[in-house]
Amino acid sequence: MFDNQRLEAVDIHGEIPEKEPERQYYYMKKCREWAEEKKRQIGRPLTVSIQTLGCQMNARDSEKMEAVLEYIGYEPVEEPVADFVLYNTCTVRENANLKIYGRLGYLKNQKEKNPDMRIALCGCMMQEADEVERVRKSYPFVDIVFGTHNIYKLAELFYLQIQSEGRVMDVWEKEGEIVEDLPGRRKYSFKTGVNIMYGCNNFCSYCIVPYVRGRERSREPQDILEEIRGLVEDGVTEVMLLGQNVNSYGKTLKEKLTFAELLRKVNQIDGLQRIRFMTSHPKDLSQELIEAMGDCEKVCRHLHLPLQSGSSVVLQKMNRRYTKEDYLALVEKIRKKVPDISLTTDIIVGFPGETEEDFEETLDVVKKVRYDSAYTFIYSKRSGTPAAAMEGQVPQEVVKARFDRLLKVIQGISAEITASRLNQTVEVLFEEVNSQDSTLITGRLSNNAIVHCPGTSDRIGQILPVKLTESKGFYYMGEIVSGSS
Ligand code: 5AD
Ligand code: SF4
Repeated sequence: MFDNQRLEAVDIHGEIPEKEPERQYYYMKKCREWAEEKKRQIGRPLTVSIQTLGCQMNARDSEKMEAVLEYIGYEPVEEPVADFVLYNTCTVRENANLKIYGRLGYLKNQKEKNPDMRIALCGCMMQEADEVERVRKSYPFVDIVFGTHNIYKLAELFYLQIQSEGRVMDVWEKEGEIVEDLPGRRKYSFKTGVNIMYGCNNFCSYCIVPYVRGRERSREPQDILEEIRGLVEDGVTEVMLLGQNVNSYGKTLKEKLTFAELLRKVNQIDGLQRIRFMTSHPKDLSQELIEAMGDCEKVCRHLHLPLQSGSSVVLQKMNRRYTKEDYLALVEKIRKKVPDISLTTDIIVGFPGETEEDFEETLDVVKKVRYDSAYTFIYSKRSGTPAAAMEGQVPQEVVKARFDRLLKVIQGISAEITASRLNQTVEVLFEEVNSQDSTLITGRLSNNAIVHCPGTSDRIGQILPVKLTESKGFYYMGEIVSGSS
């Protein structure tokens, strides 16, 4: 865990520490000294804007980087332009990459107006050699580039950049050590993500993640538990255990521990109220885990279980290692143990070779499982993945038509499920004041559904009983049950 005393103990006039995290503490302090001088010179505060694309893992990485930059002396702002603009990129689908290049064009003009502006790119897209090359050649105004494996080195890279006033590019091909104990920051004071593992070994044939996030590495359970205990002491009531494939947690540990065992240990932490986790691969979801989910009262009644396709033929080409029947049987086992669970999923439409019959298999699974909601994606060709070289890429107009049909079915089911819970009273963790209507506060049910209720900001962070009064398709309007404190 981050310990301020260890940071205080680092002497910036002494030798540069070799060991982490002391080495980063050293650079954080050096950068802070520089930033203080800079602020004096320009007579105003320095600001940082972190723009995060992609998944929960990126969101958590961004929280960590924000904490380092805040320590250095940068004030976080929501606006896209600041003295330091950091893009934490995603490359799962191509349109995320295109978005970044579009943003860079805009930032170039902004930088010409502000000589103190620095631009950094990090994250998954920067683990791709072609993209780094493109930035190197065509975007000379980008000051710092780093990947997913050395995010913890932000302060060191920043210091190198301010010293040299040149550009710093440091992308590691392979994953390195897991460095912990850097300061943490949270978007919400009462909930946060906790990494339990990094990387992925599954190599689904369409997916670039194993190439950019490296091999699977699990954190030591005692480090995870200690981190969560510290978070709870600091006011956190809900944690989301994060990993690309949490069900295979523990396989790389010297002393083996399964994800189910970890979940039971987390469930015992006093003061913690809700546990979520993301993402589960169906092939690794064990009976042991199903039992643990049913037994652990703090584990939320929600499971995100990516289907990707309902066709066993497509699933095989995707290298998912389960069939349609395996998936449906798994859902049945889960529902038997945890009857009130909400299931959500990810589905890809238009995978190479997907026929009308294959697509109908997907619709069939959607209708049988009845997901509370689903993220649907149009297949995006990622170079370097096996699927990119597969025959039978599906024409855009066919994909689009299937995508729309799928969405309609999902939305219809989602609305029916939402409506079926009307008038129930459920526990809700309130997260924020509604951005569109400040008389409303927004919270989440255990099953991850969203509800808006009349209320005031002092309720944020509390878990309160709420009566669901109106269903709006995939979210609710509700009322806090009076008498609750
Ligand atoms: N094209 C479309 N969707 C993809 N996903 C991953 N790779 C691709 C791709 N190449 C989706 C999967 C995964 C989610 C995070 O992103 O559905 O579960
Ligand atoms: Fe990608 Fe498959 Fe790993 Fe998920 S499990 S990150 S889809 S390779």
